[in-house]
Amino acid sequence: MLRAIAFVLLLALAALPRPAAAQSGGELVVYCSVLNDWCLMMTQGFEKKTGAKVTMTQKGSGETIAQLRAEAANPKADIFYGGVGDQHLEAAEAGLTVEYKSPLLAELHPWARKQAEDSKYKTVGIYAGALGIVWNTEQLAKKNLPEPKCWADVIRPEFKNEVQMSNPSSSGTAYVALATLVQVMGEEPAFAYLKKLHANINQYTRSGPAPVRNAALGETTVGINFLHDAVAEAATGAKLKIAAPCEGTGYEIGSMSIVKGGKNPDNARKWYDWALTAEVQNQAKTVKSYQVPSNMKASAPEAMPRMADMKLIDFDHVKYSATAERKRIIARWEKEVGSLPK
Ligand code: G6P
Repeated sequence: MLRAIAFVLLLALAALPRPAAAQSGGELVVYCSVLNDWCLMMTQGFEKKTGAKVTMTQKGSGETIAQLRAEAANPKADIFYGGVGDQHLEAAEAGLTVEYKSPLLAELHPWARKQAEDSKYKTVGIYAGALGIVWNTEQLAKKNLPEPKCWADVIRPEFKNEVQMSNPSSSGTAYVALATLVQVMGEEPAFAYLKKLHANINQYTRSGPAPVRNAALGETTVGINFLHDAVAEAATGAKLKIAAPCEGTGYEIGSMSIVKGGKNPDNARKWYDWALTAEVQNQAKTVKSYQVPSNMKASAPEAMPRMADMKLIDFDHVKYSATAERKRIIARWEKEVGSLPK
């Protein structure tokens, strides 16, 4: 009888959900700065592959680095995945991330390896994407506005309150936009330009990709965004068109880093190697993330215009990701532009 009770108890215990730490593959905490669907797909994919329990938080890259800085004395994350590479270079400079040379480095495009070399292997490129102008074709036609194919078009008076971009304090996209304009025009003309642009802005969003979504919904006519986000929306029916600005434009090298002092370094390295494989990178396009993957064996979605056909600037990522420079440019923007009345 006692034996039977013990047996039933054992069965009941086996059926109880296990606490996370007891999961066979251990744990992993990921701060994720790509689109939420991609973050979820990665989380589930890694859990399935390794049996680890992944805790994921999605935030813009500017917000993630602020969080990493705030937690530096007691790090909570293991991996900073995605988001613009300038923030990852900044994290490397601030000593928030650790060196790791993945065996997969040899499979990556030179621009992704350069990102690793520039940071002394404290980060690595996982994708690339060009910045540009996005518009809703129906809204544009309705308002009888010309296609804004150049930076100069976006500040035309007829675009008053028709343009949206993100806020550089929270969004890596917006910081790439500021650094791009400074490099295309020179700093003084770029700030004069940003003041004019301010008059045409209807909202500075917290998140970088938000203006694309809002343009797709017709809530703004124009957005300043990474072009892959717009092409992905258009592929599912949104009335969006894009332009790589005629004066030249900047780009991001979306990156990934291992957080210093993270509690699960073995799983962090496992994630890192896994996320650099062509197989994993090829899945991004299935969840509407159309960046150019960094693994040379992975392929960009066919709908994406080739970056080689755009007028890209020779973006100085090392200069513009340095903490002092980034802080200076954002502070100048807040003082001279963001705080201006409309
Ligand atoms: C989107 C883009 C990514 C980019 C990220 C930056 O997810 O698809 O390519 O890295 O935004 O986000 P943020 O909110 O920091 O501008």
